Amino acid sequence: MKHALILGASGDIGAAVATELAAKGWSLYLHYHQNQTSIQELLARFNAAYPQQEFLSVSYDMRNNTGLTEFLQTIFEVDAVIFAQGTTDYQLLTETTSQQLQEMWMMQIAVPIEIIKQLQPKLARSGRGRIVFVGSVYGAVGSAMEVGYSTIKGAQSAFANAYAREVGTLGITVNVVAPGAVDTQMNRVFSKADHQQIAAEIPIGRFAQPSEIAFWIADLTSKSASYLTGQTIYVDGGWLK
Ligand SMILES: NC(=O)c1ccc[n+]([C@@H]2O[C@H](COP(=O)([O-])OP(=O)(O)OC[C@H]3O[C@@H](n4cnc5c(N)ncnc54)[C@H](OP(=O)(O)O)[C@@H]3O)[C@@H](O)[C@H]2O)c1
Repeated sequence: MKHALILGASGDIGAAVATELAAKGWSLYLHYHQNQTSIQELLARFNAAYPQQEFLSVSYDMRNNTGLTEFLQTIFEVDAVIFAQGTTDYQLLTETTSQQLQEMWMMQIAVPIEIIKQLQPKLARSGRGRIVFVGSVYGAVGSAMEVGYSTIKGAQSAFANAYAREVGTLGITVNVVAPGAVDTQMNRVFSKADHQQIAAEIPIGRFAQPSEIAFWIADLTSKSASYLTGQTIYVDGGWLK
């Protein structure tokens, strides 16, 4: 049975990825930080629909690495790791504190890299290991008011470029799916007018639905996706990239 660990499965994109993978026969470790309710809903839905598969909830605060090794000891078998966790701060760089930057860095780069280091033997044993980051188009083009976030998203793509070269012969692929604007909780901070203005700039004319991002992530985890690695795939409705 193939197992995936989805970090941030409690978020909108993470839950959509979980839904796709569960339907494709994966057993899942569903990670959350605070939103246990979202995971309980997924567990109820998946256990009813796919009784032959295993679904487990796991929790970890990725702003630090305290107890990370113990957390990872609860992941027995893993063929794919999806990093769908992440937050941003909308403000000028000069107004962003060192602690905010540090926490974003830990959550989206340092802790994911440590997770990968510790899970690499299990991914290699799988023979078809898959790592997918949910990056952002801002990692390529940058965004004012989200300089720290853009930097970190660019670093995810840089990491995938380099690490893919190190683990290719182990059968592990490493890629980034980089969305533009997606209709999730993360964007609920925008007013209706701001939302409409952004949508008008996007050639497809609207924000993506989480399922439209999850589709590509699920595709990259399939066994047949064995020759695509070190790439960042921009799924932004033709907006910025
Ligand atoms: N929405 C967009 O327009 C957009 C565009 C480009 C890229 N992205 C990227 O897509 C990914 C998912 O975002 P989303 O839009 O689905 O947002 P979301 O619904 O707000 O989900 C955010 C996820 O991050 C988790 N998280 C927050 N703080 C955490 C912490 N300290 N430790 C571990 N996990 C933590 C949340 O867990 P809990 O809820 O359990 O606390 C949740 O699962 C992010 O990496 C984001 O940068 C989003």
